[in-house]
Amino acid sequence: MPKNTPGQRASDLPHVDGSIPHAIVLVGFMGSGKSSVGKALAQRLGWRFRDLDEEIESRCRRKIGDIFRAEGEESFRAVEHEALREMLKEAASTPTVAALGGGAYARQENIELIRSSTVTAVFLDGPVDELWQRCQTESKERPLLKSQNQFRQLYETRRSFYMTARLRIETSAKQIDTIAAEIALQLGLNQDEQGDAQ
Ligand code: S3P
Repeated sequence: MPKNTPGQRASDLPHVDGSIPHAIVLVGFMGSGKSSVGKALAQRLGWRFRDLDEEIESRCRRKIGDIFRAEGEESFRAVEHEALREMLKEAASTPTVAALGGGAYARQENIELIRSSTVTAVFLDGPVDELWQRCQTESKERPLLKSQNQFRQLYETRRSFYMTARLRIETSAKQIDTIAAEIALQLGLNQDEQGDAQ
């Protein structure tokens, strides 16, 4: 396994005040490991885990693929926005790690919603061809997973949005637990460190 390199600050936004977060949203492209890392991170921190796509499916009582097929992407995005609003409201009072779908943090209205909350966005980054390969081995139905070329193009148009997250973590060739540990460390949530400081 390669040596665990430190995460990098993705931006220098004014809302970044260096405070220790109490809720985290994991953002990034399809196949970046948001749900698996999110579960591992939530377990490590003893926080609740939420998956925005699952929230949408239970709100609509149908699968993401069916929502896209029956009502189209814009309708899905409207539900996604409302589900995100609800999740952020709950996260204000309950320590939460949430995984967002790959398109959620590529919409300005969602970025604004997250910025106006107290939740910290973390971008899970990785080489686009590695993300593509991961998606090939997963069973999740992804309506926007089409050709490799389209996948690359969509990734390019979204990356600048993802880069506005508070923290960027490189995931390439790393284990899930390693990535979760790196996020905790970078955000000052490292249990051992906190213990040492007391
Ligand atoms: C989407 C990604 C999916 C899901 C939906 C749309 C996207 O989530 O929200 O299919 O626009 O990239 P994952 O990122 O978990 O695959």
